[in-house]
Amino acid sequence: MFKKGLKVALASLVILSLGLAGCGNTSNTQDTSKQAANSGSAKVLKVGTDPTFAPFEFVDEKNNTTGFDVDLMKAIADDMGYTVQYENSAFDGLVTSLQAGNYDAVIAAMTITPERLESVDFSDKYLMAEQFIAVKKGSPIKTTADLKGKKIGVQSGTTGQTVVEGLGISPLKFDAIPDAMNDLLNGGVDAVVADSPVVLYFIKQNPNFNIEYVKGDFTKEYYGIAVKKGNTELKDKFNASLKKLHDSGTYNDIYKKWFNVDAPAIQ
Ligand code: ARG
Repeated sequence: MFKKGLKVALASLVILSLGLAGCGNTSNTQDTSKQAANSGSAKVLKVGTDPTFAPFEFVDEKNNTTGFDVDLMKAIADDMGYTVQYENSAFDGLVTSLQAGNYDAVIAAMTITPERLESVDFSDKYLMAEQFIAVKKGSPIKTTADLKGKKIGVQSGTTGQTVVEGLGISPLKFDAIPDAMNDLLNGGVDAVVADSPVVLYFIKQNPNFNIEYVKGDFTKEYYGIAVKKGNTELKDKFNASLKKLHDSGTYNDIYKKWFNVDAPAIQ
């Protein structure tokens, strides 16, 4: 598809130069289009996120917002000639705020779901995940079925909440996963259900906490960048840049930086 796009672009260039060669006084037209392409300083893209979700978006010791999503969004914005300005919100408020026009986009390890697609549009999927169950080592919870009758922590408004409710269990809803994990350590909950990369990262970063995970048997989920419903222009730009980042290897570099392995196919 990219090659085809390139061919079309090249073809129009040829047509354009032929056209220019054919006419006399066209230098003005040419100059204007050049100026438009390089015009001024980078434009600002307002992006909403909930930076409590390492390794996707979190605030580091130096108080910088960092993570896989942050690097990916920067690479996309660089490609588009934009700079990114983040606006933080609780995760369960992001979709409404995007709809209200508070941001241009949301990147927040947000799963593309049919429910969300009713309110916002998403870019192409950029990562695959599933729900894992975090428990204390030695916990009697060994399978999804073992969750019945237990106290389960989730982040409010997430797919973790949805899958637990789907089991007929009312989970305890936390503002952020670190709070839920804290309760798991204190014995306030018996398990935390959250995105697999986040559970794995937490365990890796905190080996002394004696947390382990159960894979569960939940369906695969795909992350997308959300835009306001109908903002096809921005969505298309994101998709074009994403495609370029995959083709150039930049996507893989970012993936490797955060997950230490090559990016698997997103399927
Ligand atoms: N993937 C899950 C969802 O879309 C969890 C995302 C939580 N993201 C965050 N930045 N807190 O519901």
